[in-house]
Amino acid sequence: MTDKLIIFDTTLRDGEQSPGASMTREMKIRVARQLEKLGVDVIEAGFAAASQGDFEAVKAVAEIVKNSTVCSLARAGEVDVRRAGEAIRPAKSGRIHTFIATSPIHMQHKLRMNEDQVVERAVAAVKLALEYTDNVEFSAEDAVRSDMDFLVRIFDEVIKAGATTLNVPDTVGYSIPAAWGERIRQLIARVPNSGKVIWSTHCHNDLGLAVANSLSAVINGARQVECTINGLGERAGNAALEEVVMTVRTRRDLFNLATRIDTTQIVPTSKLVSSITGYPVQPNKAIVGANAFAHESGIHQDGVLKHRETYEIMRAEDVGWNANKLTLGKLSGRNALRQRFSALDIEFATEEMFNAAFQRFKELADRKHEIFDEDLQALVSDEEVAKVSEHFHLLSLRAHSETGILPVAKVVVNIGGVRHEAEAEGGGPVDATFQAIEKIVHSGTELQLYSVNNITSGTDAQGEVTVRLAKGGRIVNGQGADTDIVVASAKAYLNGLNKLHSKQERSHPQL
Ligand code: KIV
Ligand code: ZN
Repeated sequence: MTDKLIIFDTTLRDGEQSPGASMTREMKIRVARQLEKLGVDVIEAGFAAASQGDFEAVKAVAEIVKNSTVCSLARAGEVDVRRAGEAIRPAKSGRIHTFIATSPIHMQHKLRMNEDQVVERAVAAVKLALEYTDNVEFSAEDAVRSDMDFLVRIFDEVIKAGATTLNVPDTVGYSIPAAWGERIRQLIARVPNSGKVIWSTHCHNDLGLAVANSLSAVINGARQVECTINGLGERAGNAALEEVVMTVRTRRDLFNLATRIDTTQIVPTSKLVSSITGYPVQPNKAIVGANAFAHESGIHQDGVLKHRETYEIMRAEDVGWNANKLTLGKLSGRNALRQRFSALDIEFATEEMFNAAFQRFKELADRKHEIFDEDLQALVSDEEVAKVSEHFHLLSLRAHSETGILPVAKVVVNIGGVRHEAEAEGGGPVDATFQAIEKIVHSGTELQLYSVNNITSGTDAQGEVTVRLAKGGRIVNGQGADTDIVVASAKAYLNGLNKLHSKQERSHPQL
């Protein structure tokens, strides 16, 4: 009989802990809707006690999502658990995920607690969580460096207290597959009543082994994997959902496990998360990278043409590549656009917002022959930024580059209703553009990252630019899309400045 593997997605919580990946409530709602469509079993929507914004976001996701369990993280303490409980209250199916560190290094230096105190806190948190939901997960943070006997003891106690899922995290990405699988196997064998709970694993990717370690845990009895879209997450990230799911599916002969995932939604979800968080996907990334199904070598191409399975173990269309063939163009009207947005689950709060998006669509269609779903997603990202707060707005840009002379850019920016313009030279047209913007705004931000990706293929494709800006301890990712990458760069830079300017704050109390 085929067993079920529970897919627990933590893109909106651990994923959000990546620098600059912080999401607004609206962004989280869009991602959560897509995760529901993808068919994940559990959506960890955030850390309700982290900030008012996080609380509101978890609650909003709990109100909207119907076909996935909605979960909030909570440290093992009364305030956190109660906040999580309140936030998930509207959910059709809600879970509280409470955690405390169990390794000597964390207990001694971070918590300054002994083993008895840690067990007491864990048990109390689980019991309190049960007042809000009967679906309670407990995680032993830094389980990888925890003493086995102590793990057995604490897991035994939280099962007695009523926890229904026990999560074993490799918080620092330290393990290797054989050791991790063995740890899970031993825990299941040694913890009394281990058969009454679901065993889960949560692996970080510091050594590039998060997916391998997670799968080894599964082979040894774990039936829930915590993962993120595109492997987003703290430091080197978490196990990538798409890789875990497609491995289990492609090697069903080895795993004999089923998931609820609609794999054709994998690529659309990956693109949405990338565009919302500002984390581009590397071209050679498994499953969702642009080259994942591209056969370059002549021998491979020849083989695939003769018999597809010579070099292909999965079909691109099964993970959602080429799913968005339906295109719009210059002659498409308002209704066609509205229908396409609706198929993408994009709703506009007001008719004015839809009108603005329609206007952008028309401008884009003048420059680009065919408009794909990815282009529409990018149009809405812009809208969303406008909804957050658009203090800085690009009015116009002229950039000149020519061999042998220094590139120069002139920008006109609207700041809080006042028009400003400046001109600057730079190492290239993008550099000149950023210098000109800085002449106006004097932001004092540090540019930590600049990257360009084409949203669709072809030279008329929109370029999507991501910039990471840091100022006063805050880090944001700004994004902009346009068929002209210098314009896209200016939009991305101003988008980052708008995010820094907005009052939205979030904190990471776990750190
Ligand atoms: O990495 C970790 O240990 C976590 C826990 C909160 C599950 O994210
Ligand atoms: Zn984690």
